[in-house]
Amino acid sequence: MPNAATPSPEALEPVTPGVPPTPRAAKDVFGEHVTLAERYVALLGDTGIAHGLIGPREAPRLWDRHVLNCAVVAPYFSDNSTVIDIGSGAGLPGLVFAIARPDLTLHLVEPLARRCRWLEAAVAELGLTNVVIHNARAEGVVGVCRAPYVTARAVARIDALARWSFPLLEANGRLVALKGQSAQQELAQEEASLKRLGAVETGVTTFGAGVLDPPTQVMIIRVGTQPQPGKPSASARGRRQGKGRKRRQPSE
Ligand SMILES: C[S@@+](CC[C@H](N)C(=O)[O-])C[C@H]1O[C@@H](n2cnc3c(N)ncnc32)[C@H](O)[C@@H]1O
Repeated sequence: MPNAATPSPEALEPVTPGVPPTPRAAKDVFGEHVTLAERYVALLGDTGIAHGLIGPREAPRLWDRHVLNCAVVAPYFSDNSTVIDIGSGAGLPGLVFAIARPDLTLHLVEPLARRCRWLEAAVAELGLTNVVIHNARAEGVVGVCRAPYVTARAVARIDALARWSFPLLEANGRLVALKGQSAQQELAQEEASLKRLGAVETGVTTFGAGVLDPPTQVMIIRVGTQPQPGKPSASARGRRQGKGRKRRQPSE
């Protein structure tokens, strides 16, 4: 889960009571789409919290910690491409990408029906026409959708994400996993397991330096022409047997 971000010192007027003011950085990041982004933040702060998709303590940091944390990654994707976002929750990062990049097609994959209903309402309310919602687990959409990019944020460790996402990727596709500040450490622990699963290139890239504090750490894992199903890593087996560190519960 991303670390708490320092609130932006420069802020515009609030758009909706109870919703944090729009930071000046939002204009730079969203450009002409900032008004739509403001409406999304207003929805998150209203029904998103009321329906339990976002924790009430997140309200003051909806922009920096959540929406901008995702939006700074939006320029990464090729023009007019398709992106599958697994475990979208309240649309982070999938809906943020759909707002910032209307040229993209976003497939949001979310197993909880209650969350899907909220996402459907948000898509209708925002008038987005580039979003498809799948009420399913990532494992359930193999053969249903395929794309050059799969994204995820605060869903699982990278080895589990790789197992779920590699079958959804086209040849030479990329898993783009938004991570917290320990991304480099997690990657080092799972590198061998990722290679066994079919990764041919792995790395951590920083997005949003100078806009967000802290900036967003993104693990980018490229697959080859045909990812191979692999065994769970030793650390994953240990966790399943109750060994090792307790998995951090990402806040929503
Ligand atoms: C902690 S939430 C994160 C939501 C959002 N990505 C965010 O950053 O706020 C994790 C989400 O992953 C979903 N999830 C869990 N296992 C999944 C799976 N196998 N496939 C797709 N989604 C999954 C959960 O239903 C939940 O909505």
